Amino acid sequence: MRLLDRQDNVFEEIAAIHYVSFGPLERAPNGILRNIFDTATVFVTYSPDMKRVVAFAFLTEKLGEPYVWVVATHENYRGQGFAGHLLDEIETFVRAMNAATGITLTVHVNNAGAQRLYLEKGYRVLRFLTNYYGSNEHGLLMRRPL
Ligand SMILES: CC(C)(COP(=O)(O)OP(=O)(O)OC[C@H]1O[C@@H](n2cnc3c(N)ncnc32)[C@H](O)[C@@H]1OP(=O)(O)O)[C@@H](O)C(=O)NCCC(=O)NCCS
Repeated sequence: MRLLDRQDNVFEEIAAIHYVSFGPLERAPNGILRNIFDTATVFVTYSPDMKRVVAFAFLTEKLGEPYVWVVATHENYRGQGFAGHLLDEIETFVRAMNAATGITLTVHVNNAGAQRLYLEKGYRVLRFLTNYYGSNEHGLLMRRPL
C-alpha cells in the first residue's frame, strides 16, 4: 500500500529493516533515510496480521524520471513475493500518473538476488556505474521502460 500517514513508528520499523538489509557501504545514515521517508512516495507491506511492516520501498525522482531509491524486505519474510509486489504497485502508481516513460533504480553489481527480481519485473541494465558505492564497489543503473 502507498503510505499516506508518515508515523514515526512506521519509520522506525522501516529503519530497522533497512539497517539489517544493507551493509555499511549501501546503508544510508538514519538522518538521510528519514529525509527521504518524509519526501518520497513510500510503499509498505504489512504482515498478514497487520502488526508489522514486512517490506517497503521509496519512490523518488532522478534526472526527471521516477526512481526507486530503496526496496527491502524483512529477512523473515523474503522469497514470498513482497518486494515483487511493491515493484508492481510502484509501476501501477507511475503508470497512473501518465507522464513517465520509465522507472530507474541502482543496484550493487554483486547483488544477484535483487538483480534477478528486477529482471523478472522488466528492468534492464542501462549503465555500469564505476565505484558508485565506494572504491571498487560498482553499481548498475537499471530501467524499466513503460
Ligand atoms: C532483494 C529483496 C528486496 C527481495 O525481497 P523479497 O521480498 O524476498 O523478493 P520477492 O519474494 O518478491 O522475490 C524474491 C524471490 O522470491 C521468489 N518468490 C516470489 N514469490 C514467491 C512465493 N510466493 N514463494 C516463494 N518464492 C517466491 C521470486 O521469484 C524471487 O525468486 P528468485 O530469487 O529466484 O528470483 C530482499 O532480498 C532484500 O531486502 N534484500 C536486502 C536489501 C536489498 O538488497 N535490496 C535491494 C537493493 S537494490
